[in-house]
Amino acid sequence: SKAPVNVTVTGAAGQIGYALLFRIASGQLLGADTPVKLRLLEIPQAVKAAEGTAMELDDCAFPLLQGIDIFDDAGKAFEGANVGLLVGARPRGKGMERGDLLQANGGIFKPQGEAINAGAADDIRVLVVGNPANTNALIAQSHAPDVPAERFTAMTRLDHNRALTQLAKKLDVSINDIKKLTIWGNHSATQYPDLFNAEVDGANAAKAVGDQAWLENDFIPTVAKRGAAIIEARGASSAASAANAAIDHVYDWVNGTPEGDWTSAAIPSDGSYGVPEGLISSFPVVSKNGEWEIVQGLEIDEFSRARIDASVQELVEERDTVKQLGLV
Ligand code: NAI
Repeated sequence: SKAPVNVTVTGAAGQIGYALLFRIASGQLLGADTPVKLRLLEIPQAVKAAEGTAMELDDCAFPLLQGIDIFDDAGKAFEGANVGLLVGARPRGKGMERGDLLQANGGIFKPQGEAINAGAADDIRVLVVGNPANTNALIAQSHAPDVPAERFTAMTRLDHNRALTQLAKKLDVSINDIKKLTIWGNHSATQYPDLFNAEVDGANAAKAVGDQAWLENDFIPTVAKRGAAIIEARGASSAASAANAAIDHVYDWVNGTPEGDWTSAAIPSDGSYGVPEGLISSFPVVSKNGEWEIVQGLEIDEFSRARIDASVQELVEERDTVKQLGLV
């Protein structure tokens, strides 16, 4: 039987953590033949709550779960980690400027990057969920110089999944009929969900919709502002859907994406599509042999170009801010 995979989850006592840990332990993150050991990282005040969740994990008697350890020290939590799910982050407080937010998150993601560099396994794969996810991933990556840069990714899979469902509803088709949808740029309100390269039943999705006004005034803002709509309705931010997307991202990374389709993930740019090299930006991606590859050769029309550029510009500004703060 396979050796257990060490999965480190930060922010384990938070609401995404609660939705995520049970699915990891049941085998949905890596596959039903892969045993897992959970390493939970929390701040000291939340360790007791994490212990409570660990008791419930025990009570599920998951056959694949081979151990749970809880830490309040990043250095220990990432020891031997094969997968790092960086969920815990500092939320934007009232009146907090973007610089303050990035500074506060630098205090979390810098030491976590250092801990990954010092102690994680050679095959470590990192997914940053905690916002601002792309730039938090950049901060962690820059403090892990011994880890291949492409092992640091940020989550736009929730945006991707949201876009799939909005399109499926509009065209009254099944999710399974939709392929090659892309989220470009930042996991923020500037993100660009692209239907021009997507397919519905093999036909061009934008043409199948045939309604530019819906695309501009309905589809794009609905996907980009879905997080705020969930908070408004639920009184709390997306948690189970975010956990679900994290599962999808890592599962595909490890096991590969299906033939004839791609997905969306924020990965370090190699300069493709005019995105400055090194920025962690969302692209159309496939996973092969455990590595993400950017889908090449897509046509980007003027409409898409302007939107991709706007989101990438926001990422450039975030990077410049964390540079000025000495965080990267
Ligand atoms: P939450 O507030 O319920 O939980 C966050 C947890 O992180 C708390 O238990 C907190 O104690 C912990 N934490 C804080 N600093 C930590 C540190 N230095 N080390 C370890 N743990 C630490 O928040 P929730 O709802 O679970 O969301 C977590 C993050 O995910 C937020 O930043 C949120 O904005 C982001 N998010 C990202 C999405 C995406 O699509 N990329 C979607 C939804 C949420």
